[in-house]
Amino acid sequence: MTKSATAIAHPNIAFIKYWGNRDHALRIPANGSISMNLSGLETKTTVTFDTTLDSDTLTLNENPVTGPGLERVSQMLARVRDMAGISTYARVVSGNNFPTGSGIASSAAAFAALALASSSAAGLNLEEKELSILARTGSGSASRSVPGGFVEWLPGDSHETSFARTFAPLESWPLADCVAVVSQAHKAVGSTGGHTLADTSPFQSVRVQDAPRRLEICRRAILEKDFSTFAEIIELDSNMMHAVMQTSTPPLMYWQPATLAVMSAVQAWRKSGFPAAYTIDAGPNVHVICPEGFQQQTAQRLKEIPGVLQVLQATCGGPAHLVE
Ligand code: DP6
Repeated sequence: MTKSATAIAHPNIAFIKYWGNRDHALRIPANGSISMNLSGLETKTTVTFDTTLDSDTLTLNENPVTGPGLERVSQMLARVRDMAGISTYARVVSGNNFPTGSGIASSAAAFAALALASSSAAGLNLEEKELSILARTGSGSASRSVPGGFVEWLPGDSHETSFARTFAPLESWPLADCVAVVSQAHKAVGSTGGHTLADTSPFQSVRVQDAPRRLEICRRAILEKDFSTFAEIIELDSNMMHAVMQTSTPPLMYWQPATLAVMSAVQAWRKSGFPAAYTIDAGPNVHVICPEGFQQQTAQRLKEIPGVLQVLQATCGGPAHLVE
């Protein structure tokens, strides 16, 4: 007997970043975070519970995956089996429509889509909050890809209280993300490893302590569509996270010369009145955020910077959802 469901989820870009955990196993974050889902970019995942299987299987972008990749997926499936009171193994088939190594975190969309598809296939009808909690256990940022639009992950202090919710609908402020890709190389230390190093930086406690203030400024700037306040706070937050990364033991240095070239170009544009702001995740590529009306110009300007290989574009996206 088989039971199947297919879900689509979007990646997201964090404006106030998640870096470091209070509980690594459960991914209870050190601080709250704010993000925007990215429309146009998506992961589509089909989960089929099949009584003839004797283990879980995973196919990603048409390639079979075993080892740690499959193990991480299997852990979420085990959680879902537990919740549904079933013991059947599942076949997971997943694909992204955006390139890996593009500076767009695929784990957020992947685990949001997996949480929705697997829980539905198992016959669970989870509410958005429960889905966000489930997605969080696979990848912290995936909690934010479950609700749509502008999202805040409330850090909480337990498994049940750490989840994300929409605080402004996607239509409320048309922003675009132009991703300046400066390297497609696989990063040496991914986010999961990076989170465990955060507390070795003497700056992490200061960054975490100040997080409620930055969250408040960012939330209000989004609600009031105040681009200049928004730009200042997201650049500050990104710089603070990278300061922690760069002062961890061992240090994590994600920036490359072209990363800095884009950062300083964006700051110069803003000084001259052009509305754009940068934010950078655990990699060298730069997300440049601007009002949708400036998207084409921003992408064009970025392409002219030496070292920028490619520019990907997205606007504000909706929630994870089931498809036929
Ligand atoms: C720098 O959610 O990718 O992108 O929970 O280990 O999968 P895991 O980490 P992940 O961390 C994201 C880190 C970040 C900032 C952010 O998206 O908030």
